[in-house]
Amino acid sequence: MIFQELRINPTRLISRVERLGKIGALEGGGVCRLALTPSEKLGRDHLVAEMKALGLDVAIDPIGNIFGARKGRREGPAVMLGSHIDTVATGGLYDGALGVLAGLEVIATLNEGNIETDLPVVVAAFTNEEGARFAPDMLGSLVFVGGLSLAEALDIVSIDGKRLGEELEAIGYAGTDQGPEEVAAYFELHIEQGPVLEDEKVEIGAVLGVQGISWTELTIRGRSAHAGTTPIRLRRDAGLAAARIAAGVGAFVRSMGGDQVGTVGASTLTPNLVNVVAETAVMTVDLRNPDEGLLQVAEAKLTALIEQIAGEEEVTIERRSLARFEPVDFAPALIETIDGTARVLGFSTRRLFSGAGHDAQMLARIAPAAMIFVPSVKGISHNITEYTEPADLANGANVLLQVTLKQALPTNGEEA
Ligand code: GLV
Ligand code: MN
Ligand code: MN
Repeated sequence: MIFQELRINPTRLISRVERLGKIGALEGGGVCRLALTPSEKLGRDHLVAEMKALGLDVAIDPIGNIFGARKGRREGPAVMLGSHIDTVATGGLYDGALGVLAGLEVIATLNEGNIETDLPVVVAAFTNEEGARFAPDMLGSLVFVGGLSLAEALDIVSIDGKRLGEELEAIGYAGTDQGPEEVAAYFELHIEQGPVLEDEKVEIGAVLGVQGISWTELTIRGRSAHAGTTPIRLRRDAGLAAARIAAGVGAFVRSMGGDQVGTVGASTLTPNLVNVVAETAVMTVDLRNPDEGLLQVAEAKLTALIEQIAGEEEVTIERRSLARFEPVDFAPALIETIDGTARVLGFSTRRLFSGAGHDAQMLARIAPAAMIFVPSVKGISHNITEYTEPADLANGANVLLQVTLKQALPTNGEEA
């Protein structure tokens, strides 16, 4: 058989995406499968059933990562295809799900062709990639690569006050298995989640790496008071301090320019009433930059801003790091393989950095890792209108299939 001619089944791939997309579906489109919630459990159950139907050996590790393994001729290190099936609360059908479901589609294609690979091929779905419910993001893959201890991970408390370990038990995914001991190569197919590929009409992105991420939670404490009777000069207004910090983040990020981005994505006031000066404000600041030095500059600017506002508004501000990951470069040989394979398949390609965090950046700590991006319509993601054209989904899955064959076959292409 000529392996280069092998292709995934696009209709079957789209059906996989649509079926998982019904689990946790929101009225009006999109999905909510926040990590370790009942809807995400249903997504996991669906995935495990699909893996079993494809004949994969399913393993659940103690942090709830799901691995479906297809044996190779030998028990060597695995070629792993992964991503995540948790979503943000207003998620789309593709962020994460595509990488896992395209992995299943690769397996289905290998099964159909009766292709025996030399190395095992494993499809992985990592726990809590989004970090929206439990910080940090990429938590399951971080634990898998030994970057965070299991005990520490299980003790993390969610935005709704639940301990991770108990939530994992409650949904029945505190596993006792081990993931693959050794990973020969890790590939993650993902939607770009940004506008570059679509804007330049490029079909496949070969991802160079992931920018650095710095998440901070601020708890601002002032004094609640009557909104009508308390003169401005006598207030210690936590709400005003939070608003000034949010505006200040926007201002320093703009003044830094370049690739620096900054977001205040969450902000809660207490008691959150129309006629009461806020006693406390809890807010998050997400800073990202592909350059570690510049990310540190942004962090220093945030520190200075916090000190300035705390002094001027007479509030106390406590800070807690929710996530801090340095920029990561992917394996040059795998980037080359992805780019070259996509071009052989007739696709236009481009190399680009990822603005979002991904499990691949954790896997890069223990194995050669790389990512394939496909275009996102209007660059929209973390939004229920997130969309990628079916042809682009299929293109990405075909690149995933071919790079998997290159890594997992002994003959790198054609069987003797
Ligand atoms: C997580 O995936 C993020 O990039 O926010
Ligand atoms: Mn993702
Ligand atoms: Mn995401």
